[in-house]
Amino acid sequence: MKNGLFITFEGVDGCGKSTQLELVAEFLSKNYEVIKTKEPGAKGLGEKLREILLNYDGEIAPRCESFLFLADRAQHISQIVKPAVNSGKIVLCDRHTDSTVAYQGYGRNINLDEINYLNNLATEGMKPDLTLVFDVDIKTSMERVGKNKDRMESGGVEFFERVRNGYLEIAKHDSKRVKLIDSTKSIDEVFKEVLSYITPLL
Ligand code: TYD
Repeated sequence: MKNGLFITFEGVDGCGKSTQLELVAEFLSKNYEVIKTKEPGAKGLGEKLREILLNYDGEIAPRCESFLFLADRAQHISQIVKPAVNSGKIVLCDRHTDSTVAYQGYGRNINLDEINYLNNLATEGMKPDLTLVFDVDIKTSMERVGKNKDRMESGGVEFFERVRNGYLEIAKHDSKRVKLIDSTKSIDEVFKEVLSYITPLL
């Protein structure tokens, strides 16, 4: 592995991606320098944006919501992800550009070309080396999220069906970068599959 690696973990709420990210971090930390991070709200300014995005109790227009996620991303890429990858670290990121495509694009019906353009602007053109999409049906997802829902999680079943479908489309159209994983399987089985995608990159 010459440079660092940038791996993103994606999927609908309650898909199990954060559990897998922790397992991967623990496994890779034995031999590599690993950074765990997330969007929205990894650190500093991002934490303030996250507070608005997840807890603001008034209405947020879909375009405003998109710009807030993108603002968080621009800061995150420049402050955390790029410097870490450039210095040879493995960056594991809980959600990134594909969340905006799935949630604001497919979920909120914002034009996908516009989202792609803005994502590219926010990331300075940087792309993940690998994206893992953890797929679960919405019934399972909702059961895992439970009753204490944040602003995004209160979107309703139809919204989440569109988001899930968005992820399936992303995986279909960008199958080289994006790997789709059946996340209804056991944690161990899913982890084995996850490692099968990561180890060839090391
Ligand atoms: P978070 O608590 O991090 O949820 P999770 O553990 O499921 O990742 O909340 C992030 C929420 O923000 C989640 O509902 C997905 C949503 N989101 C978007 O709608 N667009 C985005 O670009 C990002 C990064 C997240």
